[in-house]
Amino acid sequence: VQVIRTRTELDGLDALRADGALALVPTMGALHEGHLQLVRRARTFGPTVVSIFVNPTQFGPGEDYDAYPRDLDSDLALLEPLGVDAVFAPTPDEMYRGGGVRVAPGPRSKVLCGASRPGHFGGVLTVVAKLFNLLRPEIAVFGRKDAQQCLVIDEMVTTLDFAVRLIDHPTVREADGLAMSSRNRYLAADDRRRAGSLWRALTAARGLLEQGERDPARLRRAMARELAETDGVEYAEIRSVPELTSPARATGRLLLAIAAQVGPARLIDNLVLGVDADIVAETALFADGGTP
Ligand code: PAF
Repeated sequence: VQVIRTRTELDGLDALRADGALALVPTMGALHEGHLQLVRRARTFGPTVVSIFVNPTQFGPGEDYDAYPRDLDSDLALLEPLGVDAVFAPTPDEMYRGGGVRVAPGPRSKVLCGASRPGHFGGVLTVVAKLFNLLRPEIAVFGRKDAQQCLVIDEMVTTLDFAVRLIDHPTVREADGLAMSSRNRYLAADDRRRAGSLWRALTAARGLLEQGERDPARLRRAMARELAETDGVEYAEIRSVPELTSPARATGRLLLAIAAQVGPARLIDNLVLGVDADIVAETALFADGGTP
C-alpha cells in the first residue's frame, strides 16, 4: 500500500481520479473487521484511500487520546490484501498547522454523545472537513455504529456545500451482537461478557416495537432494564432521524441509541429503524447516499 505522510505527496492521488470516483474511508486506525467492511464497500465505488489519524481535537480532557491504540504496521498489513490504493497517515503537526479555526457543529451535535462530550463533534467535523479538502473524495464511507457522527457530518456537508456523497455502512457485530469497536480491546473477560447487554437492550426495544409498542418511555425503560449490569448508562434513547429530536410517538425513522460504561470502556451502539404501521425494518441513515 502506498503510504502518504505529508500534504505535498497528496498530488499523487490525481492519477487515481482517472480510474473512477475516489472513495475515502476516514479512520483513527486500530483497524478491525468493521473497518475492513467499510473499505470493501468503498472499493465498489472506485479507487480507495484510507486515512489513519488519531485526531487530538475530538478527545476531551481525561479521555483516552494518549492511550488510544496506534499500530500503523498492523493496520497496513490488514489493508494490503484489500487492494487499497493509498493510506494517508499524517502526523498531528502535519495535519494541524496554522491557527485554531474549528468547524462549529449544528443542532444534531447537541444531544446524545454531544451532551457529555463538549467539543467532540467540533473536533470530528474539523478533521473531516480537512480530509475532504485535502483528499477531495467523491464518496466517503462511515460506519453506522457512529450514527450521530454520520448525521452531524451530513449536516456539515449540506450546510457547507461539500461535494461528497456520504455512505453509512451497517455495523459489524461479534457473535453475541457486540458492535465491533477499537475500544473493545480495553475490555477484560467479565467486561466483555457484560458488554453484550447493549445489543440485548437494542433488540429488546426492537422486539417491543414489533409487537406494536409506540410509547418512547416504555421502550426506554425496556432498554434500561437490559443495561442493569453495565457500570452506568449515559443514555438509552429513542430519537427521530435525521433531526435527533425526541418523538412523541415511536414512528417513522428512528434511532435507538445507547452509551454505557462497561469497565474502563465507554461503549456506544444503536439501531436505525423505519417504523411503519406494522412493519419495523432496519434501514440506512442515508437513503441514496445523500441527505437522509
Ligand atoms: O469515526 C472515527 O474513527 C473518527 O471520528 C473519524 C471520522 C475518523 C474522525 O477522526
